[in-house]
Amino acid sequence: MTAKTIGILTSGGDCAGLNAVIRAVVHRAHHYGWRVLGIRDGTMGLLDRPLRYSELDLSAVDGNMLRLGGTILGTTNKGNPFAFPLGPGRGVKDRSAEIIAGVRELGLDAVIGIGGDGSFAILRRLAQQGRIALVGVPKTIDNDIGLTETSVGFDTAVSVATEALDRLQPTAASHARVMVLEVMGRDAGHIALHAGISGGADVILLPEIPYNLGKVAQKIEALRAQGRNSALVVVSEAVRTVEGKVLKVEHRGGARRLGGIGQYLADLIADATGAETRVTVLGHVQRGSPPSAQDRLIGTAFGVHAVDLIAEHKFDRMVAWQNRRVIDVPLADAIARYQAVDINSGLVRTARALGICLGD
Ligand code: F6P
Repeated sequence: MTAKTIGILTSGGDCAGLNAVIRAVVHRAHHYGWRVLGIRDGTMGLLDRPLRYSELDLSAVDGNMLRLGGTILGTTNKGNPFAFPLGPGRGVKDRSAEIIAGVRELGLDAVIGIGGDGSFAILRRLAQQGRIALVGVPKTIDNDIGLTETSVGFDTAVSVATEALDRLQPTAASHARVMVLEVMGRDAGHIALHAGISGGADVILLPEIPYNLGKVAQKIEALRAQGRNSALVVVSEAVRTVEGKVLKVEHRGGARRLGGIGQYLADLIADATGAETRVTVLGHVQRGSPPSAQDRLIGTAFGVHAVDLIAEHKFDRMVAWQNRRVIDVPLADAIARYQAVDINSGLVRTARALGICLGD
């Protein structure tokens, strides 16, 4: 097989397990005798001049990378190259040609993009425009990418949220409080559902299931009637208000990010039940390290398979996890099938069977 040079980049929000993918890619590429160039900060490293990248050989990726959160390459979830912001009030510019020129300048025979559906849509467009051989590796704590049962980072986020419930339960019981835990996940309630079941939540509210506040209050009253003085409520960040509004927090610079539904519900629950409530917004802790064993394992399997796909000249594909093994699927299909919580799924049934209130 002829020697190749492959580029690897991480794009979109970081999560735990990204470095396991990078490490595995470098090892597998070494097996084929290929060079790996790590592009800095997603597509930004290909946009800037001089190009920002570093050669990744085996000495750059020891076993400790498995334990390391974040991404050694850096990432960005801003700066779509097709509508690149030029600064306040200055509009946007299509800078895709500069990225494609960057790929050519580095002599990349293929690019492995580790991203979520937003990043994949951009990378695919670049690949089509610039005839770049692209392979995708799914990562996101939200676990909303289609055609894969799990994405890198999801399992760690669930473990962190579960641990938060473990820590909230004793203090809830000691003070006879209702603890509301707001978790991430964007429009998909996977983190809330998985962590809520694993952490023994009494109420789990998901963006996929509209809630009735009366039902939530009833559940808390029922727990009281059973002699329980406290309750755990998990709410996903994109759950709407009673009026159907998605709550956002405005950050300096004008960016608006999901947030606030935990406090909103805590106040309503306090009004409806007379319970004392407290709120924990878990935030970016869910994206931190150490990566769980599963994220290290899946990330490693994904990295190896991504390089094997390049060896087989199979491009425009995404590695995926299905039925206990790594496979690959058309990248376009994965992007097209956004995966929210299936409200008829076994896990939703499990939650209901345990008497967990889903708000409906
Ligand atoms: O998509 C991953 C995610 O962590 C979401 O769950 C969350 O809403 C968002 O990113 C936070 O984005 P940022 O890191 O830009 O605050």
